[in-house]
Formats: sequence, C-alpha cells, structure tokens
Amino acid sequence: MRILGISAYYHDSAAGLVVDGQVVAAAQEERFTRRKHDDSFPRNAIEYCLREGKTNLAELDAVVFYEKPFLKFERLLETYLSIAPRGFRQFLMAMPIWLREKLFQKDLLKRELRAFDREFDSTKLLFCEHHLSHAASAFYPSPFERAVILTSMASANGPPRPARSGRAAT
Ligand SMILES: [Fe+2]
Repeated sequence: MRILGISAYYHDSAAGLVVDGQVVAAAQEERFTRRKHDDSFPRNAIEYCLREGKTNLAELDAVVFYEKPFLKFERLLETYLSIAPRGFRQFLMAMPIWLREKLFQKDLLKRELRAFDREFDSTKLLFCEHHLSHAASAFYPSPFERAVILTSMASANGPPRPARSGRAAT
C-alpha cells in the first residue's frame, strides 16, 4: 500500500511517502524553496517523495492531509469565544483568511493535486485528525511494537488529548 502524507498552509509544509508501512521518503518544502517555514503546497517535496519511491500520484492508494480543516475551525471558534472580548482584533484578522482559504482547503488540495497530475483520483484524498497525525508520526517510526502516546499542542488545536495506544500492524 502506498500512502502520501502532506501538510501545508500552516507552517513547514512537508510530504512523506510510506510504502507497505515503511517510510520511503520525507521532506520539508523549505529544503527546496529555501523559504524558511514555507507553508505553501509542498509540490517540490511531493515530487521528491514520488521520485524516491519510483511512483506517481495515480499509483498511490491514498493521499492524506494532516488535519481536518472543519474540526480545526470549530476549535478556533471555541478558543476565541472562551476568551472574548479579548482577542477580538485577532479574531477579525483571522476570520477572512479562514473563510477564504482554510474552509475551502479540500477543494484547494484537489486543485493542487490535479495540477500536479491530471489523472489524480480525488476520492483518494483523505483527512486525518491533527493529534492523530502527531501520534502516528511518533509511533510508527519508533522501534516499539506497542506504546502509549500523549499529544499536546499550544495552538488552536484544542486541549491535550488523552493518551492513545499504538500497536504495530502484523
Ligand atoms: Fe501540530
């Protein structure tokens, strides 16, 4: 099974290719564009991963984006509401960006992937919960067969998540 993971539009865009449970390639976009913390669609990183894996977008089983934009938007609103009226200025600044770019991320990603490869089947584009992406990136490359993973982030991604358990696929 060939899975391409991508992160973008927040900070440090990146791509990683996993083939049959093994990381074949992974790279940050800034390594190619020389733009520190580049948050653009990671076209160069994707090209690198596909080249290393001797594959192409059409051959992939799934392309997985690292978070669910709507879930994040909901948490962002909860955060702003919980501290209101403080943060109202930031709220006014952030909302147009969210409404214009983030809420339409699925369409944006489909367009980017189709621009990359016109044959790309957009039903293969999937979305992972943000904390789960972090947990998976810690667990799967680890040498452990079983583990407990705790994720915690200081942003609009919500409070620390309960510990998750990981078990290697057999
Ligand atoms: Fe994160």
